[in-house]
Amino acid sequence: MIGRLNHVAIAVKDAAKASETYRFALGAKVSSPQDLPEHGVRVVFVELDNTKIEFLEPLGEASPIAKFLEKNPDGGMHHLCYEVKDILAARDALVAAGARVLGDGNPKTGAHGKPVLFLHPKDFLGTLTELEQV
Ligand code: CO
Repeated sequence: MIGRLNHVAIAVKDAAKASETYRFALGAKVSSPQDLPEHGVRVVFVELDNTKIEFLEPLGEASPIAKFLEKNPDGGMHHLCYEVKDILAARDALVAAGARVLGDGNPKTGAHGKPVLFLHPKDFLGTLTELEQV
């Protein structure tokens, strides 16, 4: 079921500053910041040969990453995203295996305009795990 690693998301207080670190220290190719108000985040995409890194900065009052940054004021790895071919089939297999899907259990449109689901971190080694249908 599991496909490629689509991205690793890192929560940060300042996406522009994080970009500079990756651009200058690591020589990475980074996008300009993009606001996604419907997701409560400002994002920067870092393109690597084999995957992407996404910096997530909180946007607005009810940002889903605000709490994470309260607990991790320096930022930190927020989630991993794996690609799947059929997100509903993947969800049904995971639920049958006892995994918990966050929210109402139905896919939502993610930051890349594709259907995504999030799996409970307690069921996946303490790591919030996103599935994206590609
Ligand atoms: Co993601």
